[in-house]
Amino acid sequence: MKLSKAFTLMESGPVVLVTTHDGQKDNIMTISWTMVMDFTPVFAITTGEWNHSFAALRKNRECVIAIPTVDMLDKVVGIGTCSGADTDKFAKFKLTPVQGKFVTSPLIKECLANIECKVIDIVKKHNIVVLEVVAAYIEPLARRSARFTLLATERSLSTGARSTGGR
Ligand SMILES: Cc1cc2nc3c(=O)[nH]c(=O)nc-3n(C[C@H](O)[C@H](O)[C@H](O)COP(=O)(O)O)c2cc1C
Repeated sequence: MKLSKAFTLMESGPVVLVTTHDGQKDNIMTISWTMVMDFTPVFAITTGEWNHSFAALRKNRECVIAIPTVDMLDKVVGIGTCSGADTDKFAKFKLTPVQGKFVTSPLIKECLANIECKVIDIVKKHNIVVLEVVAAYIEPLARRSARFTLLATERSLSTGARSTGGR
């Protein structure tokens, strides 16, 4: 297998939308490289200066991770193939910004879940942006499936199926 394709063996997490606000405008980008780093909860995304969103992430040190529904697929790809530098993506993709509680970056009303985050570190060498979650919201139907996943995880943890590193 080509080394350049090795990441496809690892990358099976959800494709998410990340919103930012640069002080003047809202923006959205698509991110597939995400990572849960702790139960606390701390997450990470991989992005960098080549994206318009990065300047807002670096300046305001906050964002919202929004979990799209499957039927938003075309919008998700569209959002990830144009730039907020010359496009109002909320208008273009007919999405509704909703004011969050702790960050100025908007939640996306049409998404299944929204996570307000503060940037707590940027690891420049690897283009990793480390995020601390300050609030999370989930739609009632999605909550049921998330609860199911949580129960399955708790069960495997309690039976010792997975090491928690002492946590
Ligand atoms: C399916 C998909 C996944 C993507 N994943 C990432 C990612 O993990 N990291 C990243 O920096 N860009 C990723 N992109 C590219 C950005 O979303 C894209 O460069 C976008 O235009 C950035 O928007 P902005 O310039 O308005 O910030 C992805 C695009 C698509 C379509």
